[in-house]
Amino acid sequence: MTGTSETAGPTKTPSGRVRIGHLQAMKGAYEPWPMLTAYDQYTAAIFDASGIPVLLVGDSAAMTVLGYPSTVPVSVEEMLMLAAAVRRGLRTPLLVGDLPFGSYEVSDEQAVATAQRFVKEAGCDAVKLERGGSSVARASAIVGAGIPVMGHVGLTPQTATALGGYRSQGRTADRALEVAQDALALEEAGCFSIVFEAIPSDVTDLIMPRLQIPVIGIGAGPATDGQVLVFHDLLGIYDGHTARFVKRYANVREQMIAGVQAFAEDVRTRRYPEPDHGYTMAPDERERLRELMG
Ligand code: KIV
Repeated sequence: MTGTSETAGPTKTPSGRVRIGHLQAMKGAYEPWPMLTAYDQYTAAIFDASGIPVLLVGDSAAMTVLGYPSTVPVSVEEMLMLAAAVRRGLRTPLLVGDLPFGSYEVSDEQAVATAQRFVKEAGCDAVKLERGGSSVARASAIVGAGIPVMGHVGLTPQTATALGGYRSQGRTADRALEVAQDALALEEAGCFSIVFEAIPSDVTDLIMPRLQIPVIGIGAGPATDGQVLVFHDLLGIYDGHTARFVKRYANVREQMIAGVQAFAEDVRTRRYPEPDHGYTMAPDERERLRELMG
């Protein structure tokens, strides 16, 4: 973390780098922690300076950065480019890279090979994958190859179509039991933490005492060890529909529009650039240039 006042309790280390053990220690100390998405070096550096201990290069980048209609189309190469940029902006947070749809499901070998690319080429500390079911074996294989894995259950956007769309999960006892079983299986497979997305707080409350590893919630109620949001949502960069779990803490889009409109108006009225924004030439050089140019 930053070495500032946010680095209280078990997250403080001599090197300042956040490690998986710190997340476990924060869980033990009932100290909830924030996680954010990041997709580029400057926002990553800002979140680092703000004391955020874990950053996720989420495949939400497909929609927030790359303009795809869902998270499904984003490629490994696109994710690696963004993750490497985030790494360059970071000093202290733990960096988790999201394995995109189609990059880990086929076999354990495919999963390990993709996860290794996130570590070797982008400098990620860990990777995240979605779902229980066949993903449990993939998580186990990646952990077995020495790479920490974060699981993700509940609403798993990569397979939202199969789940009936972007809707909350676990609202029936049967489906809630499946979510719980997925979470327990991912813990058993060696995941160091799990994201719970869009499930009722009641379900979270029932699962939490059964898990030893930290759980990060997004629309899963207050009982989780951490909370994550996509930063475009919390900072108000995007002004369309947001999920009900989003809380907006700033309106950066409005501020950007105001700044850009002020610039455009200054250009149109010749108020920009001002003398201070330009470069000057020594008078004798200017005179000589006049002569040279006739
Ligand atoms: O891709 C993403 O941003 C995520 C988080 C919302 C957990 O998976």
